[in-house]
Amino acid sequence: MIPAKVIRQKRLGEEYFLLELEAPEVAEKALPGQFVRLSAWPGNDPLLPRPFSVHEVEGARISVLYQVRGRGTRILSALRRGDEVKVDGPLGRPFPVPDAGPVWVIAGGIGVAPFLFYLETLKARGVPRRLFYGARSRGDLLRISRLARLSPLIVTTEDGSAGRRGLVTEALSEALTRERPAMILACGPPAMLSAVGRIAGEAGIPTWLSLEAVMACGRGLCLGCAVPRRDGGYLKVCVEGPAVGLREVDLDALT
Ligand SMILES: Cc1cc2nc3c(=O)[nH]c(=O)nc-3n(C[C@H](O)[C@H](O)[C@H](O)COP(=O)(O)OP(=O)(O)OC[C@H]3O[C@@H](n4cnc5c(N)ncnc54)[C@H](O)[C@@H]3O)c2cc1C
Ligand code: FES
Repeated sequence: MIPAKVIRQKRLGEEYFLLELEAPEVAEKALPGQFVRLSAWPGNDPLLPRPFSVHEVEGARISVLYQVRGRGTRILSALRRGDEVKVDGPLGRPFPVPDAGPVWVIAGGIGVAPFLFYLETLKARGVPRRLFYGARSRGDLLRISRLARLSPLIVTTEDGSAGRRGLVTEALSEALTRERPAMILACGPPAMLSAVGRIAGEAGIPTWLSLEAVMACGRGLCLGCAVPRRDGGYLKVCVEGPAVGLREVDLDALT
């Protein structure tokens, strides 16, 4: 774990924060889809650093976009400019970046966090792309104007307060009746990932699902992050993921 200074912390909604850190060693190496483990508390309470996707890299700075869920994220949300955080990373396998698209990126809720960096990379490489972004309500949609500058965007909300009313997976199914992407990459709640996996699997489209698992070592040593593999055995999300090929994932075990 290396120390990093907080440059800025911005509240983006009732339970969402954007935390910017001065972390040159991480910024230099990070690739889209990778994550860092953060700890901002002395001693062992909470016991483990918490994993967060690298949301954006700008020069020597990285940012993470997070939702407050429990004790660790509540402590993070109290950080102010100049405070110190311990950072471990970048960890995990980067998202695949194909030479040709289109790539359809499916985000559910805070699952949008890794996609700003990814869409930036696709844009820089000239890969056609589209973001399907679903949330509960307007207030749960994050960084929309920035994302819209990086990619064509289809927004859905469950209550219809922004974009189309309904689930992001419904928008995906509908789009697939008209068009066919070269690749799908999804990050979001387990039920959404499972639905994306079934829809994309039926359509026979190469698909990657970015999985969330409880993490301990982050280095493939402890099996803390293991999830069942479709053909038996276990996947270590921290080193074989977080994005895992659809064929490897046991969709029934996700939910
Ligand atoms: C590779 C990876 C990348 C992630 N990226 C982000 C990100 O960019 N932004 C973000 O907001 N969150 C992200 N997460 C989830 C984040 O790590 C958890 O929300 C965080 O660890 C919760 O810590 P806590 O101490 O606040 O909550 P805890 O007190 O540990 O838990 C509070 C509640 O959240 C649930 N929870 C905790 N961790 C997870 C988890 N990993 N998956 C599902 N449910 C969990 C617990 O079951 C519990 O109900 C990521 C997780 C992984 C594995
Ligand atoms: S977190 Fe230890 S093996 Fe993945």
